[in-house]
Amino acid sequence: EVCKGVNGLEMVVLREARGSSAEVYLYGGHVTSWKNDHGEELLFLSSKAIFKPPKAIRGGIPICFPQFSNHGSLEQHGFARNRIWSIDNDPPPFPTNSSSRAFIDLILRPTEDDMKIWPHSFEFRLRVALGPGGDLMLTSRIRNTNSDGKPFSFTFAYHTYFSVSDICEVRVEGLETLDYLDNLQNKERFTEQGDAITFEAEIDKIYLSTPTKIAILDHEKKRTFVLRKDGLPDAVVWNPWDKKAKTMADFGDEEYKHMLCVEAAAIEKPVTLKPGEEWRGRLELSAVPSSYCSGQ
Ligand code: BG6
Repeated sequence: EVCKGVNGLEMVVLREARGSSAEVYLYGGHVTSWKNDHGEELLFLSSKAIFKPPKAIRGGIPICFPQFSNHGSLEQHGFARNRIWSIDNDPPPFPTNSSSRAFIDLILRPTEDDMKIWPHSFEFRLRVALGPGGDLMLTSRIRNTNSDGKPFSFTFAYHTYFSVSDICEVRVEGLETLDYLDNLQNKERFTEQGDAITFEAEIDKIYLSTPTKIAILDHEKKRTFVLRKDGLPDAVVWNPWDKKAKTMADFGDEEYKHMLCVEAAAIEKPVTLKPGEEWRGRLELSAVPSSYCSGQ
């Protein structure tokens, strides 16, 4: 059932039997809320988020497609995050997520105007599902429906904003020793040294060829987010910190302390699809008490 969210924008609420929930806006195909079975919000959403096209919603899970950030000639992060998606009532069978009954299928097809800025016909199907344990699963399927025989290439990210208690007490495991492109240093390539990633300043890095599992440990909240991903080799880690935060109209000056973006992505090697071909990118998020994690 579709209901009205902020500013009358349409959204869908998913509820799972044990109490977890999620909210998905048709504007952007954008998950804005994910709560565990205690009703605790797990995603960061800015108190200054502007729920008004064409500004993308600040927080939750924006979809970056067909371009990540400014890695190309399109608008920042592509246009999928500021288009109105439709509910897909008749999706082709998904191979996974079949055990979940709390899910919604959305679809985005380009308009004629979209095809003036990105001259390709595509179908982007997004399934958002809640698992029985409250896990949040996003599956994207993008198909080239060009009738002119032309392939297309794109970059992609699930730009997830996690809610954290204090960014200074957070660490990310799974990215140690990897190569990354540093967006704060002309996208130059470096290699991460040493231990888990911790935060004490602005960060904007694209880690390359990352493992399928990444963990965000929130020491103060005693909570660990586990990301599992498929088809998404890269992982962006972003926090604007204080100075950049002040330049963002839709982000509170102090909010950087309570968020961290870890974005499952395909950036370094763009995905290329021939007509008729389909790509799939999957993200599964769980939030578990830290005491249940090994090595804590
Ligand atoms: C991150 C990028 O993914 O998104 C950053 O790596 C960017 O460079 C950030 O600043 C936020 O982008 P936007 O367009 O939502 O303000």
